[in-house]
Parts: sequence; C-alpha cells; structure tokens
Amino acid sequence: MDPVRYDVEGCVAIARIDRADRLNALSQEVQERLTEVFAAADSTAEVRALILTGTGRAFSAGADIEELASNAEDAARQLHASLSFLSSPERMRKPVIAAVNGYALGGGLELALACDFVVASEQAVFGVPEPTLGVVPGLAMQRLPKLIGIIRAREVLLTARKLSAAEAYAFGLVTRVVPHDKLLDEARSLAGEVTRLGPHAVELLKAAINRNFQADDLLFAERANAWLFATADAAEGIKAFREKRSPNFSRAPRAG
Ligand code: COA
Repeated sequence: MDPVRYDVEGCVAIARIDRADRLNALSQEVQERLTEVFAAADSTAEVRALILTGTGRAFSAGADIEELASNAEDAARQLHASLSFLSSPERMRKPVIAAVNGYALGGGLELALACDFVVASEQAVFGVPEPTLGVVPGLAMQRLPKLIGIIRAREVLLTARKLSAAEAYAFGLVTRVVPHDKLLDEARSLAGEVTRLGPHAVELLKAAINRNFQADDLLFAERANAWLFATADAAEGIKAFREKRSPNFSRAPRAG
C-alpha cells in the first residue's frame, strides 16, 4: 500500500501521509515516497503549490521508532538522511503548506516547520519528544531559536512539552489555527492567495527567506545524535517507548 497519497487539484497538489496505524511515522519508505512526491510537485509546470497533510490522528509522530530500534547501529546514518529529508520542503521551488491535522511531533514538527506555512487544526499537537528518548531533534534544535526566538525555543526544546494548537500559535510555530473540519479549505485558500502571485517572484522570495537556514551546522546535529544513539540513555528511552512506560534515565557517567 502506498504510504503517501498524491492528488493534483487544478494548480494545487495535495500529499497525504497515509500510515495512520503508526501515526504517520516517517519510515524510510515514507521518506522516499515523499521525496518523490516533492520532486513531482516541483517539476510539474501546472502545479503551483503543494499542501502536505496526514490521515487519521496525526500529521506525523516523527521518526519511526521501531525502525530506529530494529537497527540501532544504523540509526545515526538514518538520522543523517532524515535531516536532509526533513529540510527538503525548504529547498523546493514551489510554496508548501503544511496542513497539520493532529500530532506533529519530532520529525513531524520539523517537516512542518520546513514548509512555508503551517495551518493547524484546533486538534493539532506540537512538540519535540526526542529528549524523552534520550536523543535530540536535530533540525528543530538548529531552527527553533531562529524561528521563534531563544527564550521560547528553550521552553519547547528543554521541556519536550506537548503544545496545543493555540499554544503553538502563541509561540509563533504556526501561521493560522482553524476548526478541524475547515483545515483543508483553509490550506487551499492560502494556496489560492500564493498561486495568484508571480511564480518566479514567489520562488525568489522563498529562496531568500530560507537562505537563513542554509547554515552548515546540521553536521553538529548529525554528530550529536550519532553519539547519543550509542549511550545508555537512548537505549533506555527507546526501550521505554516500546514498553509503553516512562524512561528511567541514570546519572551514571556517560560512555565514550
Ligand atoms: N514511530 C513508530 N511507531 C509509532 C510512533 C513513532 N514515532 N508514534 C506512534 N507509534 C505507534 C505506537 O507505537 C502505536 O503502535 P501500537 O498500536 O502497535 O502500540 C501506534 O503508533 C499508536 O500510537 P499510541 O502511542 O498507542 O497512541 P497514543 O494516542 O497513546 O499516543 C503519541 C500518541 C503521539 C503521544 C505517542 O504515540 C508518542 O509519543 N509517539 C512517539 C512520538 C515521538 O517520540 N516522536 C519522535 C521520534 S524520534
């Protein structure tokens, strides 16, 4: 079954992550399919904007923890590829609107933040739970201080708290919050506003805005998680998630 549904409605394409039973976790397969869909939208002349959303209760609950757990040694390499994938909407020529229908956690939040607009359902929930797993949200820890300011970024990152849509809006993570049943209408309406503009001007504006994010500090994020994945913290955090319990992190000296 295709984990991403892709439709074109006039000049707007809609991609739906369709893996509701895993809360649209970003498995390798989902990432590969979304990469294809992003390329298709960007290279199809008739398409002027892309809406990205999820089916079921989540936009996306982030990295696929089962995949990370099943191959912990390879987790760091997977995370390297994920950093590039998660920031890929920033590098698209066409505007992308994240229509956040539910949980946007970890990589799910990072993917939404790499889009040009974030329209959220009132039922959306945002957060970066990676530290509860003993690892770090590689892209969010680089981007959030720039996007929402250091004070707010500290609260989001250092508490790993889940934010309601209203809180996310107040924090500046979200463009608009709308009733759940109006989410796609609002995303389409926003797409309509952007696609009325000169497409080359939009492309240049988008590139200019995102130039701020082209720094090379993702290497730091990659190395941080490569190191963290080898710690007992990450082993315990991931084990605890799979066993549906709270992690019990030790204060013992770190290895390595
Ligand atoms: N990767 C893989 N599977 C995931 C997942 C993820 N990121 N997030 C959720 N799932 C799976 C659950 O394991 C569960 O599977 P099961 O039915 O086989 O038990 C299913 O999706 C439904 O999730 P569940 O946890 O039962 O739903 P909930 O409503 O109780 O909780 C969340 C929802 C989002 C709070 C919870 O799923 C969660 O914390 N997910 C992990 C988020 C995260 O840490 N993301 C960053 C990863 S680095």
